[in-house]
Amino acid sequence: MISDRYADFLMRAAGQGRGRILPVVAMVALLLSGCGAPAPGDQATPDDHAGTRVQPDQAAASHEHPVAAPDEGESLLAIMQRLNTDMTGLSQALWMEDWSVMTARAAAIANHAPIAATEIERIHAILGEEMHAFEEVDEAVHTAAVRMHQSAEARDLQDFLAAFSDVQQGCVSCHTSFRDRLRTVTP
Ligand code: HEC
Repeated sequence: MISDRYADFLMRAAGQGRGRILPVVAMVALLLSGCGAPAPGDQATPDDHAGTRVQPDQAAASHEHPVAAPDEGESLLAIMQRLNTDMTGLSQALWMEDWSVMTARAAAIANHAPIAATEIERIHAILGEEMHAFEEVDEAVHTAAVRMHQSAEARDLQDFLAAFSDVQQGCVSCHTSFRDRLRTVTP
């Protein structure tokens, strides 16, 4: 039963990379909704979620990475802790003008691990329709991180700083809007 949707997911993901949390979230949410008993009137098809699909032109710099199977994803918390480490390392490298480390950290941020299916279920259960907004900010962070990576490779400091600032704004924006409801640890 899962096979058609799963194959479809893998094909799209293979073409579009694994850099974002939510393109994966949206697709796995489809898988999950496809596995449960359908609610009355619920006709979940991929097209219902067309608006949440990643656009191919936003997937730059991550398409070379392998696609993780849904059971290989990580918790949001684990992803966040690694983002935190990579952003810290990125700042340190910036002050040291170590462009190769900046490039590597930016790539790690742009290509963070996909989120686990169980975590997607949890987020979806809490956010419902707001998951679209969650995805948008996630996508914005990814896009800015890809730009950060490209400008680090090009050693373009001005563009790097602009993209770095956009990444930070995206992190904080998602936290402000969603973190309290989604916390699994108390600060
Ligand atoms: C799309 C939403 C979203 C984006 C984008 C996002 N975060 Fe988060 N972040 C969360 C949520 C939700 C949590 C709470 C997770 C939990 O408690 O399980 C969190 C938690 C954290 C934590 C706390 C981890 C802990 O141990 O308590 C850190 C640090 C963090 N994020 C860093 C970042 C950084 C750095 C970025 C940007 C590169 C970022 N986040 C982008 C949603 C987001």
